[in-house]
Parts: sequence; C-alpha cells; structure tokens
Amino acid sequence: MIGACWAGCIDGTPPRLVPLAWHGGTRLSPGLIQESRVADQHTAPTSINVTTPNVARMYDYYLGGKDNYAADRAAAERVIAAFPDVRSAVRENRAFLGRAVRFLAADVGIRQFIDIGTGLPTQSNVHEIARNIAPDARVVYADYDPVVVAHGQMILSGAEPVAFIEGDVRCPDEILGNAELRSLVDLNEPVAILLVAVLNFVTDQERPDEIVARLREAMAPGSYLVISHGANEERPATVHGVQEVYQNATARAVLRTRAEIAPFFAGFELIDPGLVHAPQWRPDLPHRAGALADPGTGMTLAGVGRVSRPVTSHT
Ligand SMILES: C[S@@+](CC[C@H](N)C(=O)[O-])C[C@H]1O[C@@H](n2cnc3c(N)ncnc32)[C@H](O)[C@@H]1O
Repeated sequence: MIGACWAGCIDGTPPRLVPLAWHGGTRLSPGLIQESRVADQHTAPTSINVTTPNVARMYDYYLGGKDNYAADRAAAERVIAAFPDVRSAVRENRAFLGRAVRFLAADVGIRQFIDIGTGLPTQSNVHEIARNIAPDARVVYADYDPVVVAHGQMILSGAEPVAFIEGDVRCPDEILGNAELRSLVDLNEPVAILLVAVLNFVTDQERPDEIVARLREAMAPGSYLVISHGANEERPATVHGVQEVYQNATARAVLRTRAEIAPFFAGFELIDPGLVHAPQWRPDLPHRAGALADPGTGMTLAGVGRVSRPVTSHT
C-alpha cells in the first residue's frame, strides 16, 4: 500500500487505482495508489514532483532545511510575504512538539509514540527526544509522502526500535493495522499519537473528527493525543493569503477556529493548560517569554489530551 489506502479510509468510497510513480528511476515502493475519490480531496504525493509546491518541503524551507526545490521555495516565500511570522510559528510548533514528547516520556511514562504527518527529518525528531529520556521508547513515524518516508528511513540506524512507514492520516485503520507498526507498538498498552500540524491539511469533507475518533477507539486507557493545528481567528487577512498559496500545493491548508479544533479532543481529558497557542503550552525556556507576549502571532493552537473514557462508536 502506498500513498492512500485500499480500505479503512474514513470516507469509505471505492478507490480508483493508478500506477505508482517512480522516483529517480527507483521505485519507491511496490503496489498501486488510490486516487482521491471526491473532487475536494487531495491525493497523496507519489513521487518527486519538483514543480508542484510540496507542503512537507515548504515546511522544511521555513525551518531552514535544504530538502526543498525552487517551486517549494517560491511558494514558501509567498506565504512568508503574507505571514511574516511563519518561520517563528513553525519553530514554536516544533518546540511544542518537543515539550509534549518530553512531558509524555518523562512525566507520564509513555513508551510508545506514533507520529502521523511527521514531515521531513529535522533537528530533535520524536525518537531522539523520547529515547533520550527513555531508551526503551518505541516510535513509529507515518507520512503519506513517500519522499518524506524515504528521507526518514535514511536517518534511522536500523538498530533502534523506530520505524518510518507510509500512511495517510485519512486512513487511520490502515496506519494502525500496518505490520511494521504492530511489531513495535502494542495498542493494548498506552500510546501517544501525535497529529502535529497535519489535521490542517485534512478538509472538512475528509472528516477529521471521525479520523481522530477512529484513532481514539484504538487507544488503550492511559493513552495520549497530541494535536497542533493552524488557527484562523487572529489575522483574517493573513489566513486568506496563506490559504491561497496552499491551494496550488500538494495539500490545501485548512486553518480552523478554536471552536472547530477543540472537538477533536472529544473523549479526551485536556491536560493543563488546555488548548492554547503553541508557545503557551507548558513553556520551558526563557526565550519563549517573547513569544508569550503575543502568542497568537503563530496562529497555531496546541494541546495534549488523555483518553478519558472508552468510546465504542464515533457516530
Ligand atoms: C507541516 S508538516 C508537519 C511536520 C511535523 N508534524 C511538525 O509539525 O513539525 C505536515 C506533514 O504532514 C504530511 N501530510 C499532509 N497530509 C497528510 C495525510 N493526509 N496523511 C499523512 N501525512 C500527511 C505532509 O507530507 C507533511 O510531511
């Protein structure tokens, strides 16, 4: 399976199959992919396409990475023009991810992490943070972009209990049923699932609430959900400029209101301080004081929730 799922997609519509693309003469993975089934949905990237701005590579560019092409940089520069704080916003998003993983590994004792929509490898990846605290921690990364997965697999030694799999968050059953994931993660034990800056690439038609509910159903008591999500209430003009650029990228940006993001934590008990701007979530370093002065500039809401009750149906 590559790119999108054969079964287990939340929308349940039948797949249309197209051949897998090739990357640099090397087939990235066997099989076929399923094209999107609804006009408003986007397909998973299937190869290196250097002319379409790619959301993972644009993010890499904001972070100062080198894994990006001219089209990604041009689109990212247009986002920077509309949203000059985007670079500090993505750094704050990464810092939130780091604090959340440290909290879960050190304070809660979580030893299993599934990071969905993980992005191109950068500094302080989840397994590095978690295993620094708990050397027995097991981490599975999933991203629907095969190039992200190929890069991710390259940074793994192969010796540690860490895997990088292809998986589309819109198909949660496929991700949770992945054999490699199951060899590392015991879903009968507490797990942390990270959806960090990825639900903002899932449209309402793709039913992000049901995606999260499906994940929650699979999580054992004592499990945690980590979400960060682009927010749209602070600067309406900025939102428009950002969303316009992403219209022509590999995925649309769907920035949401607090009232739209908060229900993703249905069935979870939000950990203090709740759903807040990313720099406000358990700030640790003095330099975050600056970000705290106007935390809304990052336009990212973030929170961590603990499974609060068994949920048998997501209807
Ligand atoms: C903005 S980056 C976030 C990276 C990382 N989670 C972080 O916050 O630093 C978004 C990532 O989500 C991935 N992505 C977008 N839509 C996805 C989907 N439907 N399923 C899985 N991954 C997806 C992209 O390929 C990209 O790597």
